Formats: sequence, C-alpha cells, structure tokens
Amino acid sequence: MKTVLITGCSSGFGHETAQYFLERGWKVIATMRTPKDDIFPRHQNLRVLALDVTKEESIRKVIAEAGPIDALVNNAGIGLLNALEGVTVESIRDVFETNTIGTIAMTQAVIPQFRAKKSGVVVNVTSTVTLKPLHLLAVYTASKAAVNAFTESVALELEPFNVRMRIVLPGLAPSTKFAENAFAKMLPVPEAYMPTFEAVRAGLSAAGSPVTNARDVAEAVFVAVTEPSSPMKIPAGSDAVILAKTVGMA
Ligand SMILES: NC(=O)c1ccc[n+]([C@@H]2O[C@H](COP(=O)([O-])OP(=O)(O)OC[C@H]3O[C@@H](n4cnc5c(N)ncnc54)[C@H](OP(=O)(O)O)[C@@H]3O)[C@@H](O)[C@H]2O)c1
Repeated sequence: MKTVLITGCSSGFGHETAQYFLERGWKVIATMRTPKDDIFPRHQNLRVLALDVTKEESIRKVIAEAGPIDALVNNAGIGLLNALEGVTVESIRDVFETNTIGTIAMTQAVIPQFRAKKSGVVVNVTSTVTLKPLHLLAVYTASKAAVNAFTESVALELEPFNVRMRIVLPGLAPSTKFAENAFAKMLPVPEAYMPTFEAVRAGLSAAGSPVTNARDVAEAVFVAVTEPSSPMKIPAGSDAVILAKTVGMA
C-alpha cells in the first residue's frame, strides 16, 4: 500500500484530495496547522499530523513522524488580493513563505528518501493565474509562478533518480475557504484602485461561468501522482482546461 503526504488538509482541495486517495486504497498523511478530530471521519489508513510549512522545525518533525512516503502533495497556500500599493512587505513575505518557500522546503525534505529508493513523486498545486495576468494578484501570481519555474527546473536534476515532479493548476474555486481566508486578512484597497477592485469582485461572483471544484483538483493530483506519462502541467477544473487550451498549454 502506497503513502501520500498532503499539506493544507484542513479544508478545500487538500481535504478533498486526502479523501480521494483514501477511497483509492492509499495510506494518507493529512497535514494541517491545527489538527482537529472532526475534520475527517475516522479511517484506518488516515493519519492527521501537524504541519506549518513556514516552520523548519515543524517540517523536520512531520517528516520524522510520517516515516517513508511515496508521494508528496504541496497544496497548502494563501491568497493575496490587492493592488501592490495596498499590501505590506510583511504580507508579501507571508505569501512567499507559505506558497513558495514552504513548497520548496517540503520538496527538499522528502528528496533524500525518494532519491535513495529511486522512486517518488512531488505534486505542486499552483494556479491558472500563472497562465494569464490578472488584476490585483501580482504578488500571489509571482509566488505561484516561482513554484512552476522551481518545479520544472528541479525535475531535471531528479530525473536520473526516477523522482518525478508535477504541477497541478486549478482554476477559480469559489467553494473552498481560499477567498474567505484571503479576504479576512485583506487590507483596504487604495481609493485609486477601487474601480478595478469592484470590477474584479463582480467578475468573481459572476453566475454561470465555469469554475473549478475541489474534486477536479483531487482527480488531477491523483493522475499526476499515479501516471508517469502525465504531462508536467495539469490544469484542474473546467475553467482551467479552457484557459490552458486558449494559451496553447493543453
Ligand atoms: N480556491 C481557489 O480559487 C484556488 C485556485 C487556484 C489555486 N489555489 C491553490 O490551491 C491550494 C489550496 O487552496 P484551497 O482553495 O483549498 O484553499 P483553502 O480552503 O483556504 O485551503 C488552504 C489550506 O492551506 C493551509 N495553510 C495555509 N497556510 C499554511 C501553512 N503555513 N502551513 C500549512 N498549511 C497552511 C490552510 O490551513 P489552515 O487551516 O491552517 O489555515 C488550508 O488547509 C492553495 O495553494 C491555493 O493557492 C486555489
């Protein structure tokens, strides 16, 4: 039986992906900053462990507690919607610490065991925002584009050891806690950018547009982990698939 470790499983894509792997007979190590008993139904193949991807000690501890794994899914992430003028350097650091450095540090932590056994796969969840520039998402997009570049580059050095890297690019998923979490920490949008913000907000809540569901992401992550012939970049969600085709990616 194979084991996958997934980051950011308290809600959204991570939660759904953990359940998806359990349903398919995998052992799942579902990690989250604050483990709670009621997030998952009990399952003999499920372990819930504490992990904050921004803390080196937390990463060391979870890797030791987890034992051997076959796949790592770097899903934990935070959003930041505002004009560049409306964000603090501290909030920029937070986004990069979680989305970018957290992903790189987790990858670095699992590589030794994957290299030694000459097998393993790391799937990084980024976003379709990296395929097309959007308003008020410059910092978030930069944090995810860096992960794309990192993933494709490190994949080269790991190829001789039969260690695979993949990128899953979800589209807009209003059903997760992502926007709620991002809005909770959002500073006021500077007055000059309010018309842009209103247009973005109207676009986000437009009814009838195709969106991404957590299940789409779970399916794409499963393909990335289990199918060695899968492409490096896998769009997840109907909006993501449409955009990927538009930009000539798929
Ligand atoms: N929803 C979208 O529209 C969308 C679109 C494209 C890509 N994405 C990406 O998809 C991933 C999952 O997002 P989601 O939509 O499922 O959002 P979500 O419901 O907010 O889930 C994000 C998860 O990341 C965790 N997390 C945040 N900071 C962390 C840290 N320092 N260490 C460990 N875990 C941390 C959160 O845990 P806590 O409970 O501890 O906060 C939560 O479990 C993210 O990387 C996001 O950037 C989302």
